Amino acid sequence: MANQEPDLVEVVKDGIYIIRFNRPKRKNAFNDKIMLGLAPALERAASNPDAAIAVITGTGDYFTSGNDLSNFSKGAGSGGGGGASDKKGETNLEQLAQAANGSFNRLVKAFIDFPKPLVAIVNGPAVGIGVTMLGLCDVVYATNRAIFHAPFVSLAQAPEGCSSFLFPRIMGPGKAAEILLFGKKVTADEACKLGLVTEVFPDEHMDQIWPRLHQWAKLPPVAMMRAKGLMRAHLKDKLHEVNDLECKSLAESWTTEEFMAALMKFFTRKSKL
Ligand code: COA
Repeated sequence: MANQEPDLVEVVKDGIYIIRFNRPKRKNAFNDKIMLGLAPALERAASNPDAAIAVITGTGDYFTSGNDLSNFSKGAGSGGGGGASDKKGETNLEQLAQAANGSFNRLVKAFIDFPKPLVAIVNGPAVGIGVTMLGLCDVVYATNRAIFHAPFVSLAQAPEGCSSFLFPRIMGPGKAAEILLFGKKVTADEACKLGLVTEVFPDEHMDQIWPRLHQWAKLPPVAMMRAKGLMRAHLKDKLHEVNDLECKSLAESWTTEEFMAALMKFFTRKSKL
């Protein structure tokens, strides 16, 4: 049966605001609908009085394969950062820079400012922003099928999602460098040992996550927000500063010959995990 749901599904159930990437045929790659829709979805989750916690997850076998690279190929298209194409579907370097500093910056900002507990349920492999956003989540549960890959340098892009700051803090500078500089792929168990993933579940037991989330969603919501606010308070300004710097760097990287060559390589010979 055809997938009738939108590319970004939002459901509120039993105190949990669930945001689900829903482009399984494209491995949940972030097109404009997801890239531009995710920040408003998080804002709705933050203000929804029926939701004490929020979950992000994906449909199908992938969590997300990151930025939809075909956005760039449509004459550099909508620029992965979202919303950079003009009415003719064309773009220019200035639009790409605006996308990075505008919509992409706003997306990461929404993660930084999210006031309620945010849980990622990583239902399959995660690439690019699908990996980096995890550093901004409070709890990360992953299937044992998940693989984590941040191929920023091989795509001649800059790391984002505050990963340049958070990953060295979470896992130490050497391990962060292997992932962010050299694009080392790590398994769910390795990511758990590194502290990026909180707990790994056998794929067939992923449904065990929900009963505990339902219990936690019944905890006093204001107290949960207060505790999260305190945990993030010391880093918030720094994270916004890092986000601005990373987006500036991302905008520059999208205008390089190296990046165009990397895109050509992807579309002529697709990489496999
Ligand atoms: N951007 C654009 N298209 C993507 C995509 C992405 N991020 N992720 C998947 N797709 C597309 C594929 O091109 C393919 O399209 P097609 O059916 O028209 O050929 C379709 O989704 C299915 O993916 P496919 O490559 O056939 O699946 P796979 O299991 O062999 O490989 C990936 C999956 C994710 C390893 C591979 O698609 C890939 O390397 N994608 C790019 C990931 C990436 O570099 N993201 C940016 C990070 S900064």
